[in-house]
Amino acid sequence: MISDSQTVARPSAPPVAPARLTSSPPPAHVAIIMDGNGRWAARRGLPRVEGHRRGVEAVRRAVRAATELGVRYLTIYAFSSENWRRPAAEVSDLMGLLKLFVRRDLAELDAANVRVRIIGDRQGLSSDIAGLLTEAEERTCRNTGLTLVIAFNYGGRQEIVRAARRLAEAVAAGRLRPEEIDAEAVTGALDATGIPDPDVVIRTSGEQRLSNFLTWQTAYAEYVVLPEFWPDFDRAAFAAAIDEYHRRDRRFGGLSEKAG
Ligand code: IPE
Ligand code: IPE
Ligand code: MG
Repeated sequence: MISDSQTVARPSAPPVAPARLTSSPPPAHVAIIMDGNGRWAARRGLPRVEGHRRGVEAVRRAVRAATELGVRYLTIYAFSSENWRRPAAEVSDLMGLLKLFVRRDLAELDAANVRVRIIGDRQGLSSDIAGLLTEAEERTCRNTGLTLVIAFNYGGRQEIVRAARRLAEAVAAGRLRPEEIDAEAVTGALDATGIPDPDVVIRTSGEQRLSNFLTWQTAYAEYVVLPEFWPDFDRAAFAAAIDEYHRRDRRFGGLSEKAG
């Protein structure tokens, strides 16, 4: 296998890091719990919303880095089902930033061949936000580059409940027999079909918990916790997380495939 790190840059080439730090294939699906915006702002004596604003810039960097590093699917946790517990002003700031992001960045994402998918409960969202999310999905649905999955008003348990309802409705309508319900059927009834399970979940800001993220899909994901706050996340942090992932020994209940 040809390693990107063996590529010799011409003297005139810009000083970019190699696309991959190891010759191992990149994880197909990286999921990120973008955490620490508030603390980033508090450290600087700034309002929390400033941390969220800078967090949007980190999202742009993450999307670029994912593409450059060869990741096929990037899921970002943007707003949890439980984030409604925050003060109304902060919730409103977060909704406003999502709208701004879609309005400002959709054309660029589309031009970069990014396919946007949304997971989460759309029913609980205002019609303007739900409309923007649908527009983002529809405009980019034929793109073939990175798939960017935005988890918005998302909770892993709530998603499993929605899946259970969809399956129950199919059974009630006579389209499905109860004995046909297996793991594959549950996976197929989740919010976004056709997306492989995440290989790695990255959480910034040092917290070591899932916070209701991708409960079903992360059964065998590797967890990588980074110390930096989300607004400081960049390509180097992304590459470091992938390097850490490559050092892991994934067994899926079997025996180690790594020597020794
Ligand atoms: C992550 O940063 C952004 C969202 C949850 C929307 P936080 O807002 O959770 O920042 P901290 O954890 O309070 O620092
Ligand atoms: C998880 O972060 C949700 C998102 C990143 C959108 P939180 O900051 O809400 O999680 P907890 O409350 O610390 O568990
Ligand atoms: Mg947090």
